Amino acid sequence: MNIAFLGYGQVGAPLADHLARAGHNVTLGAAEPFSDRALKALRRNAELKAAPPREAILGADVVFLATPFAANEALLMAVATELVGKVLVDCTNPVGPGLNHGLNSARSGTEMIQTLLPATKVVKAFTIYGFENLENSAYPGYNVKPAMLFCGADAAAKQRVARLIGDLGWEPVDTGGIEQALPLEHMTLLWIRMVRLGGQSPHVVWAALRR
Ligand SMILES: NC(=O)c1ccc[n+]([C@@H]2O[C@H](COP(=O)([O-])OP(=O)(O)OC[C@H]3O[C@@H](n4cnc5c(N)ncnc54)[C@H](OP(=O)(O)O)[C@@H]3O)[C@@H](O)[C@H]2O)c1
Repeated sequence: MNIAFLGYGQVGAPLADHLARAGHNVTLGAAEPFSDRALKALRRNAELKAAPPREAILGADVVFLATPFAANEALLMAVATELVGKVLVDCTNPVGPGLNHGLNSARSGTEMIQTLLPATKVVKAFTIYGFENLENSAYPGYNVKPAMLFCGADAAAKQRVARLIGDLGWEPVDTGGIEQALPLEHMTLLWIRMVRLGGQSPHVVWAALRR
């Protein structure tokens, strides 16, 4: 798939790197392609390319959003036209003071983005764990893969994202429509509080066991 990244820090850079290693054509949407951040991400993998954000989005089937939540509205509005019809993977989390929900649990960040971009197919994924697990999704010794929970309104968009989740070594777990984004954001807060506040190891993920 042709994939573009908006944001290539702790979350975006490892995802971009691993998706390129899995054979996808990955372009960083970089307003400043020679910034330290862009060069650091590009140095991870010679297959990664950089292009101005609009160009990167236009050439992509799937666009990853991995930016600070507070920056989303302005940066997405600037590329709203280019995002029409695209699948947008929302990797962002609205985290507020005291590690509470940044939108006071009134609605999810993903629904806010979907409202801003009604002609874009928004799928929430890669949000429920810390970046350490995006760097390395391997949990050797188990006969199940770690679960990556995702949700969104568009079934075809979710299928595409599920394939990418699988390519990155996770078991894709479709939790339902975009209204599931708020519970997923609370799940993120659970993980963050356990690990960042509670001192537990970041190398902890959930698995889906079925019978
Ligand atoms: N860190 C985690 O463990 C984790 C895990 C899951 C999800 N998340 C979520 O993922 C998102 C990214 O987190 P992160 O830890 O990867 O952050 P980060 O390391 O600070 O990277 C943020 C990226 O967004 C870019 N950016 C910042 N402001 C921007 C703007 N106004 N317009 C365009 N690009 C902008 C930054 O580039 P410049 O510095 O060049 O502007 C950088 O590439 C957040 O919403 C976070 O809640 C984080």
